[in-house]
Amino acid sequence: MQPLITFEGIEGCGKTTQMKMAREVLRNHHLPHLLTEEPGGSPLGRRIRQILLRRSPEEICPEAEILLFCAARAQHVRETILPALRRGEWVLCDRFSDASFAYQGFGRGLDLDGIRQIDAFASPLRPALTFLFDLPVETGLQRALDRISRAGGEAPEDRFENEALAFHRRIRKGYLTLARENPERFRIIDATRDIFTIHKDVSVQLAAFIKGQIHALP
Ligand SMILES: Nc1ncnc2c1ncn2[C@@H]1O[C@H](COP(=O)(O)OP(=O)(O)OP(=O)(O)O)[C@@H](O)[C@H]1O
Ligand SMILES: [Mg+2]
Repeated sequence: MQPLITFEGIEGCGKTTQMKMAREVLRNHHLPHLLTEEPGGSPLGRRIRQILLRRSPEEICPEAEILLFCAARAQHVRETILPALRRGEWVLCDRFSDASFAYQGFGRGLDLDGIRQIDAFASPLRPALTFLFDLPVETGLQRALDRISRAGGEAPEDRFENEALAFHRRIRKGYLTLARENPERFRIIDATRDIFTIHKDVSVQLAAFIKGQIHALP
């Protein structure tokens, strides 16, 4: 099976922008690929996404939150990601399991072993490569909120953006902890730079990874 590559980081760090630009590297190598996102990636996932990301007067407790994210992941993996990998496509995914550890674990304070069990039940997949876009939370949140206000619309997806700064700082630290614990898989990218400099950095790292994968073939 081809690899699953994930794009992670706090709100507004540039995941979606960079994932779309990274597609060019796969095209240049003539590699079939699929771009997808969490929560979402399937009709059920997109319905769960609305519950999770739109602001609503009803509370979602952290335990329900992790279960909803993992329910969306279970469907996404079976309906979209695994079939694509089996067709021989490379899959680029905007957020995946690491987000559950960063947000519900480090951010909300849920037990990390509990999350590991729920995530393992939801998905047998592990990313082969993960880009972590790191930047101060104030910068990321400003970018995300600017993007949301430019987009307009009736129900903005800003439930997480409206959380306290301390929550986002715990998530940033959490992601960096995950990256330190899994150095072979993570590439930490300085996301304070301009879009094209970051893209160049991602392209070099991705091309090196592709070269390694192709050489590893029997
Ligand atoms: N390096 C950058 N410098 C300045 N602005 C950027 C940079 N990268 C992305 N942006 C802009 O910041 C906003 C957020 O970027 P993007 O949507 O890619 O982030 P994200 O990590 O996907 O956010 P979210 O977590 O909300 O999905 C967009 O308007 C984008 O154009
Ligand atoms: Mg995004």
